[in-house]
Amino acid sequence: MVGLGFAGRTALEAFSELPDVEVVALAGLETDILKSLGAKHQVPNLFEKWEDLLAVDGLDAVSIGTPTQLHAPIALAALERGLHVLCEKPLARTVAEGTAMVEASKQAGRVLKVVFNHRERGDVATLKHQSGWFTNRELSGGGPLIDLGVHILDMALHLMNEPKVTTVSASTFAELGPRGRGSVSSVVRPTVDTLGAKFEVEDLATAYLRLEGGGALQLETSWATYRAPGDNFGIELFGTEGGAKIDVQDYTNKDTLKIFTDVGGIPAEVRPATGAGLGHRAVVSEFVAIVLSGDWAAHNGSEALARTQVIDAAYASAKAGREVVLND
Ligand SMILES: NC(=O)c1ccc[n+]([C@@H]2O[C@H](COP(=O)([O-])OP(=O)(O)OC[C@H]3O[C@@H](n4cnc5c(N)ncnc54)[C@H](O)[C@@H]3O)[C@@H](O)[C@H]2O)c1
Repeated sequence: MVGLGFAGRTALEAFSELPDVEVVALAGLETDILKSLGAKHQVPNLFEKWEDLLAVDGLDAVSIGTPTQLHAPIALAALERGLHVLCEKPLARTVAEGTAMVEASKQAGRVLKVVFNHRERGDVATLKHQSGWFTNRELSGGGPLIDLGVHILDMALHLMNEPKVTTVSASTFAELGPRGRGSVSSVVRPTVDTLGAKFEVEDLATAYLRLEGGGALQLETSWATYRAPGDNFGIELFGTEGGAKIDVQDYTNKDTLKIFTDVGGIPAEVRPATGAGLGHRAVVSEFVAIVLSGDWAAHNGSEALARTQVIDAAYASAKAGREVVLND
């Protein structure tokens, strides 16, 4: 397992709980955390650099929880060595990197799976398992781009049964983040305030996606805007037979899902009770189950690459100031 931050530690906890899994090596640059996690989970091989970890004999799989620029180099080296790969979201920074990873998975005949743990939230699973109206393409959802947006895009396309995205039109802004203004996300604020990091990326993105079959998806995501404080994400679906809304404030799992329908012509709202869901635990166990099943060919990262293609197209659209058509 590579990476000792939030993503790496969450995956480590999840892997450690599984009976068929032995975590034999850990890598990360924070030597104190490396030692303490190694001792806690009795991991025999501890390294600072991922290259040293991949040299360990007898590995079956590697789990990548590093900053995104390292996803492609680590996955490519691991697949070349015949290892299965579980990689944090987003798959990669660009379509070019992501395509190389998917190709390497196909070439090696090994699993490449991406951690889309928000799918495993209780409200998303409940909504996905409602049948009927949400398979209609007349639906809508919310929130790009590459960091938070990829989760929202993944949940929305998942709930809508994977319609193909045909065009993307997007705008991006960076008015507030660079000045430390607005309701800056709790995830980003320490980076800007404490580390004095430059805010080189967009702080707000909005995108309009046309979908095969006539549906549409409106995405908005931001790290800094003038709006109500707190971390908030959600999805709104507008179907021909009903609608739904997932609204999550500060990562709560309670009372997040509403379903809209009508009863005898009268508008009605249903608030299903949903569990919290298993998040990373569900993704990690699914990865282990796929690896153990031997049925690897269908799991080569293509679905995650489709998300990266949309996000790349959104950035290209914002730069060019026009709609971008996605080809096969
Ligand atoms: N699925 C989720 O809900 C979720 C949540 C947070 C982050 N993420 C994703 O997980 C990834 C990591 O995010 P994070 O917040 O944990 O980051 P982080 O900065 O907290 O941790 C990154 C880790 O990678 C290690 N690392 C960096 N360079 C290395 C190298 N050369 N060799 C070995 N280790 C190296 C660091 O030492 C650190 O332990 C990102 O791609 C992010 O998008 C996913």
